[in-house]
Amino acid sequence: MSDVFAGMIERGHEQVIFCSDRESGLRGIISIHNTTLGPALGGCRRWHYGSESDALNDVLRLSQAMTYKAAAADLPMGGAKSVIWKHDKNDGTTEALAKAMGRYVERLGGLYIAAEDVGVDTQFIDWMASETAHVMGGEVAARGGDPAPYTARGVVNGIKAGLEYAGKAPALEGVTIAIQGLGALGYNIAKIALNEGANVIGAEINAERQAEVARELPGMKIVSLDEILFVECDVLCPCALGGAVTADNLGALRCTVLCSGANNVLSDPFSDAKSLKDNGIIYCPDFVANGGGLIQLAGMWCGFDQPELDRRLANVQNAVLTILKDGEGMASTHEAALAYAGKRLTAGKPLNEFATA
Ligand code: NAI
Repeated sequence: MSDVFAGMIERGHEQVIFCSDRESGLRGIISIHNTTLGPALGGCRRWHYGSESDALNDVLRLSQAMTYKAAAADLPMGGAKSVIWKHDKNDGTTEALAKAMGRYVERLGGLYIAAEDVGVDTQFIDWMASETAHVMGGEVAARGGDPAPYTARGVVNGIKAGLEYAGKAPALEGVTIAIQGLGALGYNIAKIALNEGANVIGAEINAERQAEVARELPGMKIVSLDEILFVECDVLCPCALGGAVTADNLGALRCTVLCSGANNVLSDPFSDAKSLKDNGIIYCPDFVANGGGLIQLAGMWCGFDQPELDRRLANVQNAVLTILKDGEGMASTHEAALAYAGKRLTAGKPLNEFATA
C-alpha cells in the first residue's frame, strides 16, 4: 500500500480506486488526479501489464497528463484515467467486463467520466453505458463516437502552428509529413494531410493494417519501421506508442517540427524537450496538440454546441503557437506548456467559464 500512497503523493493525485469483479474477471484501477477545474473525463485503457505496479504506474501517469491536457484545452474539467489489467495478452473484451467497469464508474457519481482508449472501442463504451450515464464515446447507448477524427484535426492545427513558428505558411500544401503508426489517429491525420496537399510518408508495424491504409490512401508513401522517424521531412508526427523519441535517437531526427499524436512521445520530457530545442527542432507539446478528442467529448459533456466545439478545436493552433513563443524564454516548450496549463489550474477555474451539464 505504501507504494500507492507514495505514487499519489509524488504526483498530487486525489483518489485511486481499485476495482475487482470475480465473475467477469475485472481488475481495474480508476485514478482521479485533479478535479480543481471540474469533473474529470479520461479514457479507459485495456492493456496486458507485466505487473500490478506497472498498471498502477501507467494509470497514475496517464491521469496526471489528463489534468494538464484538459487545463491546456481550457476545459472546465479535471484529469482522470482508468486501466483494465488484461490477464492474458490475447484476452478479448466481454460485455460482462465492460458492465462491471461501468458499475464502478457509476459509483463515483459523475466525478469520473470514462471514454475510449487503447483496447477499448465504441462497443465497449456502449456496454459500459448500460450501467452508467458517466461515459462518453459510444455510438448507441453513449454519445460522442470515436474521438480520433477530432484528435486528428487538433494535431493538424498543432502542425500548422509549428509551421508558422518556423516562418512558413500555416498550411499543409507541399509540406512533407512523416507519420509513425497508421491506426485510428495516424490514418485520420494522413487523410486530412493528403486532402490539404501534403506529401505524406507513413509506416505501420501491423502489415494487415498497413495494406488496408495504403489501399485507402494511395497517395501516401510507405517506408520501413526503421526509417520513419529519421526521414527528411518538415513535420514528424508519431502516432504509435509513447516514448518514440529518446535521448539516443533525437540527434538523428531530420524534421523541422515534431508534433505528436501519441501521448508522452518524449521518453524524458524535460531533458528531451530541451535537447530538441538545442538541436533547433520545434517541439509542439503532445498534450496540447493532441487534445482534440478530449475537446470534442468533454465539450459535448459540458453542453457546448458544435460551433463552440469547432472554435475550441481551431484554438489548438493558437494555444500551440503561444506555447512555442513562451518556450523561447524557458528551457523548453514542454516547460512552457506545463506553465500554460498550470496558470489555469492555479487560478482554479478555466479562462472561459461555461455551465456544466
Ligand atoms: P491505434 O491503436 O488505433 O493505432 C496505433 C497504431 O500504431 C497501430 O496501428 C499499431 O499497429 C501501430 N504501431 C505500434 N507500434 C508501432 C511502431 N513501432 N511503428 C509503427 N506503427 C506502430 O491507436 P490510436 O487511437 O491511433 O492512438 C495512437 C496514439 O495516439 C496512442 O499513443 C494514443 O494514446 C494517442 N492518442 C490517441 C487519441 C485518439 O483520439 N485516438 C487521442 C490522444 C492521444
